[in-house]
Amino acid sequence: MSTLAGRVALVTGGAQGIGKAICERLAADGAKVMVADPGVGIDGRGGDAGLATSLAEKIGGAAFPRSIASPGAAEEAVALAVSRFGGIDILVNNAAILRDGFVFKLEPADFEDVLRVNLSAAFYLTRAATGVMRDQAKAERGGKPYGWGRIVNVTSTAGLYGNFGQAAYASAKAGLIGLTRVTAMDMARSLVTCNAVAPFAVTRITHSIKPQNDAQTIYKERALKVPASAVADLVAHLASPAGQSITGQVLGVRAKEIFAFGQIRPAKRAVVGAGGIGAAFDEIKAAFADMQTDLEAFNTDPVI
Ligand SMILES: NC(=O)c1ccc[n+]([C@@H]2O[C@H](COP(=O)([O-])OP(=O)(O)OC[C@H]3O[C@@H](n4cnc5c(N)ncnc54)[C@H](O)[C@@H]3O)[C@@H](O)[C@H]2O)c1
Repeated sequence: MSTLAGRVALVTGGAQGIGKAICERLAADGAKVMVADPGVGIDGRGGDAGLATSLAEKIGGAAFPRSIASPGAAEEAVALAVSRFGGIDILVNNAAILRDGFVFKLEPADFEDVLRVNLSAAFYLTRAATGVMRDQAKAERGGKPYGWGRIVNVTSTAGLYGNFGQAAYASAKAGLIGLTRVTAMDMARSLVTCNAVAPFAVTRITHSIKPQNDAQTIYKERALKVPASAVADLVAHLASPAGQSITGQVLGVRAKEIFAFGQIRPAKRAVVGAGGIGAAFDEIKAAFADMQTDLEAFNTDPVI
């Protein structure tokens, strides 16, 4: 089924893991895919440009085998997609690196590197791509009304719940949720959607999990069974014509399960009265968040 025939996609971190599954699936659905990935290690170090170029060759796309974590590189990657394939309709901000360390030890430079790749780069690419998408909407690319623009930000439940030692990663992933909401609002008039997807899938990141307790050990065993192709299926659905009505959402996907996280909103309200702020806290504390990590919160058997 060529549901994405005529569309052009740019997938960051597209050469390995979940990003690779997304590139393969979008290409199989008929899109022209730009694989933007320098093939670095989980910590962002090293690099193998051949990973992006060989995947691009295999799926009939093009490669941008460099880091997208600067405003100039993001502009270049989008411009390359436009010059090679005539436009840009689907942007998947999937690239991420991990530099874990307890908050009292984490180096500021590591925190900043993670924020640059996992959050700032998504903004740089969104900024570059939405400029083109707005022009495409005005020019009614693909027919009237323009309904092709899709942005997917790959976040993590670590950004919603937190996890030990992941100050940088969780901060970036939480930031992506704000970026998603605002992008969905700013681009609504151009009929461009933007959603955040928290995936669960076996990749080298899953293999790198260092369980901190028995529950996390069980979580890891279960996570190793979850295929990346299910994440690609969800992203392909969001990119398809059926995804036109889905925007501004924080979604999750774990094999056959999909989740809507909904809006964080006041769960309990109190008014400070004669009893003072302490008494008001007594009223709202029933709604306090517990201290479960994301690994514990999702420690149920996946439906494969
Ligand atoms: N695997 C999971 O269960 C899981 C869970 C939660 C979130 N995620 C998220 O899913 C996404 C994909 O993760 P994965 O598990 O496939 O990891 P992965 O390490 O296999 O893939 C990440 C890719 O990003 C690329 N990358 C890193 N820095 C880059 C840069 N500066 N420019 C372009 N590309 C860059 C890497 O080369 C790599 O190919 C990430 O955003 C990750 O945070 C994954």
